[in-house]
Amino acid sequence: MKIPRSLIRPLVHDLHAYVPGEQPKIKGLIKLNTNENPYPPSPRVLRAVKAAVDGRLRLYPNPTAQVLREKLAKLHGCGPENIIIGNGSDEVLALAVRALVEPAVGQASRLSPSKSQKKIETGRMPVLRDSNSVVQYFTPSYSLYPVLADIHGAAKNAVPLNANFTMPSVAELKRGKLWNFNAALTFITTPNAPSGCGYATADLEKLCRAMSGVVVLDEAYVDFARENAMKLALKYPHVLVARTFSKAYSLCFQRVGYFVGNPGLIAALDKIRDSYNVNGLGQVAAVATLEDLQYYRANFRKIVGTREELSCALTLLGFRVLPSQTNFILAKPPGNVLPASRRKKERRQDAGGTFGAKDWLEKLRDKKILVRWFHYPEVKDYLRITIGTPQEAQALVTAVKAILQ
Ligand SMILES: Cc1ncc(COP(=O)(O)O)c(C=O)c1O
Repeated sequence: MKIPRSLIRPLVHDLHAYVPGEQPKIKGLIKLNTNENPYPPSPRVLRAVKAAVDGRLRLYPNPTAQVLREKLAKLHGCGPENIIIGNGSDEVLALAVRALVEPAVGQASRLSPSKSQKKIETGRMPVLRDSNSVVQYFTPSYSLYPVLADIHGAAKNAVPLNANFTMPSVAELKRGKLWNFNAALTFITTPNAPSGCGYATADLEKLCRAMSGVVVLDEAYVDFARENAMKLALKYPHVLVARTFSKAYSLCFQRVGYFVGNPGLIAALDKIRDSYNVNGLGQVAAVATLEDLQYYRANFRKIVGTREELSCALTLLGFRVLPSQTNFILAKPPGNVLPASRRKKERRQDAGGTFGAKDWLEKLRDKKILVRWFHYPEVKDYLRITIGTPQEAQALVTAVKAILQ
């Protein structure tokens, strides 16, 4: 039975939810679509989790993930008061929006906008574009940010990266006049997703210094990069660094991520956090992970090696592969691989009329290899390919050769 529309908030009714990558349960599928780590958690982590599965499951876990925060504090050279743990880094990103950004939707219909508050419309919702209500990010970057802003009823300021996916300098952003240096919250994915492009810490620091609102440096993929910007979170009171155990530490299933930042900011986020937001087994797994970092560092090296080999192999096959500092690559497949007669038959609007990236997605899927394709204009000609094992990379190259033939 259809429920009355009036039972749901208009904002939620009109919301476009985040679309996660597919998690199919097809046998024999090579899964290169969600940037998971191809290597399992270390044997020590698996032992620790198994040992924790007993009668203690009836108890609530530690509400502040104290042991994990102490261990992370040691790793990052700060105190546990500099750290908040989330149910995946997605949760701490959401906490930042809820704690730091004023909702804007609806206010425009209640208040008459002042000179500094330009009235704009997002969807059918009136929104006040006051800097206190602005969530800002570059495009393309992590597609969750606009969704978090929408859920909160915040205004969004999406500013394009340079055409080659590098980050505009502060001077360029000032000239471009699109960037809001007073935005309540700015998200920067570094290294970037889905481009894989790394940003220099010196450039990030210049940008952070020019901002008056809070800047989140989302370092989900930083373990595969040349440098990280953790020192900025410990130097500037308005900078938070987000990290996750999902990608580099093979722990997507357990959902553990965190922010490092100024104790005042962290305490504000902590006020609105659910009491038991991080499940007990997740805490156990993350603590054990930190006791076995050598195992993971060896995996980073393997993944980076496979990334470079796969990038070379695909380049030789006619792909345009962007340099990556992550555990995935963004690659533009060669077009026009079909004979003219089939090209016409299989023509697609959204792939520019030739055998485009979306066709490659489907052809690879037919060969049981899953990669990711985004419909956003800046990246619709590319495939995002997670780096798997060397065997999986080889299978991908073999499949590509077969498609090209
Ligand atoms: C840039 C970025 N940040 C954060 C996340 C979320 O990671 P988690 O699994 O910790 O929620 C992802 C996951 O895909 C991501 O790509």
